[in-house]
Amino acid sequence: MTTLRGYNKRIMVTGGAGFLGSHLCERLLARGCEVLCIDNYFTGSRENIAHLLDDRRFEVIRHDVTFPLYVEVDEIYNLACPASPVHYQHDPVQTTKTSVHGAINVLGLAKRLNARILQASTSEVYGDPSVHPQPEEYWGNVNPIGPRACYDEGKRCAETLFFDYHRQHRLSIKVVRIFNTYGPRMHPNDGRVVSNFIMQALRGEPITIYGDGSQTRSFCYVDDLIEGFIRFMDTAPEHTGPLNLGNPGEFTMLELAEKILRLTGSSSTLVHRELPQDDPKQRRPDITRAKALLDWEPRVPLDDGLERTIAYFRKRFFA
Ligand SMILES: NC(=O)c1ccc[n+]([C@@H]2O[C@H](COP(=O)([O-])OP(=O)(O)OC[C@H]3O[C@@H](n4cnc5c(N)ncnc54)[C@H](O)[C@@H]3O)[C@@H](O)[C@H]2O)c1
Repeated sequence: MTTLRGYNKRIMVTGGAGFLGSHLCERLLARGCEVLCIDNYFTGSRENIAHLLDDRRFEVIRHDVTFPLYVEVDEIYNLACPASPVHYQHDPVQTTKTSVHGAINVLGLAKRLNARILQASTSEVYGDPSVHPQPEEYWGNVNPIGPRACYDEGKRCAETLFFDYHRQHRLSIKVVRIFNTYGPRMHPNDGRVVSNFIMQALRGEPITIYGDGSQTRSFCYVDDLIEGFIRFMDTAPEHTGPLNLGNPGEFTMLELAEKILRLTGSSSTLVHRELPQDDPKQRRPDITRAKALLDWEPRVPLDDGLERTIAYFRKRFFA
């Protein structure tokens, strides 16, 4: 992909060595872009991007986004932030700083460069929703002082900053609210349900179900999500979002556990544990806007995505 000035578009991806970031870097390189990956390796890893390092158009800088960065790029995808409760609750102050100071720093850079910028926001901005499924107009139901607030409120404040930079400085912004996404290169110990269940099944350990397992989640395969990111970034400047991206298919935790047991061939049993504080009972995206704007909807069925993810976990951790 080339710019008006005739060279390959230079794209910065913060959090580029993480789960989603590494898939995004891969896709952007495949499109012909130059990619600058920024990461402090808090939850990301060099292994996630090792296969990209031989590409001359790929560069990596070890950097913490809570500090300013001066580089020259045409577009920015801001993904840097730990995404799972075990990781974001490890150092909650740093989590809020990563979202808020990180947003200020990348927005400042985008303003200086007049670069278009996409924010990886989250369905967590809806908190424990009283509206189901959640459309973008819903303002959410977040506990501002609970243990998840460092992440939820950090991401909400980042959205505020993006929209104020847009209104005040006419910056071209794109805000995506990502719903549960899974796939190869997820962190094996992040406590998120898909990686948890797969690791437990492959180890032959009991599968941990919080509560009675009737709470539901939706699961989007990573390739579908990245396709949505790229299509959204390419839309006209008036399309700022926020835009929900996720898979509206809804499954209970018990259904997910059964699928993973079947696909791994594991004989693990199920054990029930108490629900964590502020755990949402249900979460499902309303993707009407994304369908209309991007002509996009998830294509990969849960069973296929789980098979690919299980194959990755087997090869990486059990070969
Ligand atoms: N995966 C999902 O289901 C999901 C859902 C909603 C939102 N998101 C958002 O998408 C983004 C990527 O999530 P992911 O699932 O790939 O998680 P991840 O933890 O694999 O990726 C986050 C990356 O950011 C890096 N990072 C963290 N703090 C940093 C800092 N201060 N400076 C520089 N780099 C830093 C980490 O090292 C990691 O590589 C996050 O912003 C997350 O909030 C993800």
